[in-house]
Amino acid sequence: AELFGPSRRNSAGVELGDAASLASLLAEIHAAAAKPVPEAVPLIDGKPGTGTARDVLSPIDGKPVGRVTEGDAASAEKAMAAAKAGFHAWNATPARNRAASLRQAADLMEARRGPILALLQSEAGKTLDDAIAELREAVDFLRYYAAEAEAKFAVPTTLPGPTGEDNRLILRGRGPFICIAPWNFPLAIFTGQVAAALVAGNSVVAKPAPQTPLIAALAVRILHEAGIPKTALHFAPGDGKLGAALVAHKDVAGVAFTGSTATARAINRALAAKDGPIVPLIAETGGLNAMIVDATALAEQVADDVVLSAFRSAGQRCSALRLLVVQEDVADKMVEMIEGAARELTLGDPRAIETHVGPVIDAAAKERLDAHIAAMRSAGRVTYAGRTPDLPGTFVAPHIIRLDKVADLSAEHFGPILHVVRWKAGQLDTILAEIEATGYGLTFGLHSRIEATVERVIDRLSTGNIYVNRNMIGAVVGVQPFGGHGLSGTGPKAGGPNYLPRFATEQTVTINT
Ligand code: NAD
Ligand code: ALA
Repeated sequence: AELFGPSRRNSAGVELGDAASLASLLAEIHAAAAKPVPEAVPLIDGKPGTGTARDVLSPIDGKPVGRVTEGDAASAEKAMAAAKAGFHAWNATPARNRAASLRQAADLMEARRGPILALLQSEAGKTLDDAIAELREAVDFLRYYAAEAEAKFAVPTTLPGPTGEDNRLILRGRGPFICIAPWNFPLAIFTGQVAAALVAGNSVVAKPAPQTPLIAALAVRILHEAGIPKTALHFAPGDGKLGAALVAHKDVAGVAFTGSTATARAINRALAAKDGPIVPLIAETGGLNAMIVDATALAEQVADDVVLSAFRSAGQRCSALRLLVVQEDVADKMVEMIEGAARELTLGDPRAIETHVGPVIDAAAKERLDAHIAAMRSAGRVTYAGRTPDLPGTFVAPHIIRLDKVADLSAEHFGPILHVVRWKAGQLDTILAEIEATGYGLTFGLHSRIEATVERVIDRLSTGNIYVNRNMIGAVVGVQPFGGHGLSGTGPKAGGPNYLPRFATEQTVTINT
């Protein structure tokens, strides 16, 4: 860790194996969970905007967690006007000061772990493991982008040139940025987008997913408290219609979006249809993530890694394994071991410490997943079905579905459903071509002890994140910069060294001395 200095050290997290640390953590979560959650309201220069109020329901039991006021068109217009007015002062604030606010926010998030973890559980249905990992990721993004801004924005880069000429490259904010987040990492991705846009000098209008506005409102309160001016960060809770209205606004200088490929396309079209400046889109979208397993792989490790990658987090990670491509000679044994490991998973209330798999985000998600499972069952393709707990929440048990070929999986099913295809020795290149042909390129896993196979796969695939002989989720900020290509996004790597410049304008200044 010292290699990069203390500013690059990742958050330490919590030692759950230590009884005393666990007990004090749970006490903080329980105390926070017993208190009412402040309402999420549109914030324009820190003042409440107008809109329609409703309950936010928990996926655990369908009961209200809190209230949100979702912004209307007037509120969106005011947020954009305020972001435009607030941009120049924030962009002129030294990058070191902007970075200091991010670091302060990281410290505050660690200090407020009780309320944050409680909300990640009640609003997003996260297990304790997942909630802790998400808090760590948010903290890591804040500290990583702070360090990156100091390195790249605080002083201009001096460039070589002829004697008598001073050449500099300067990075600055672009203007009002719209940040649109998904519900599956309602704290980490929301915070990461907003922190990157802000520290690069942009003002921000931040729109959380409609399923998870409360945790986002908490993040905004923390960022304001940490010194981000209320004139620089505005909050716009609401649905896709509000997102579309913000994106269509004439003053938008950039959009950072994470969510489905279909929505990224809609945003791209809306931006392209506008008159005025050409507006950049940073899009991180979905995946049809595959893992290839050959006959040299270690079966026990494969079973653990597959179950973790496909079923934990209820399969609601964009990085999650969707398609296992296993060599025919070992397929029966591998699948049997995977089923055995899946049977060990405990499904249920994610607030219970023993739970491995909680609910999916809402009734609509459950309906879509149940429909896919039902269609596959009718086709005689379901080979394993976990037991759905008899609880009021939106639970979907892990399922395994056998397909004939890679192309049979044509859509991202965002839940704990694993599809399995078999391949014959000698077909590796065909399989790799089929995986490329899906058009997605987010994560990919390989289990093989053959060095030539590992090299072949790395050379052949353009997938954004490739994991060899391990699981394929949980990219660590600054260690595994994360993001994909093609249908999986426009390519910037969140938590990587090339991310912040995508939020900036670059200016070259040449002075004849
Ligand atoms: P989604 O596309 O439905 O919604 C994402 C966000 O976009 C929400 O805030 C939504 O309100 C907003 N939105 C919807 N329509 C809009 C429009 N026309 N204009 C502007 N904004 C609009 O996605 P989701 O269901 O919330 O998230 C799950 C998806 O996100 C999955 O496909 C998953 O793979 C992807 N994801 C990708 C990454 C990554 O880093 N690549 C990370 C997490 C999630
Ligand atoms: N960054 C998250 C992961 O790698 C999505 O699982």
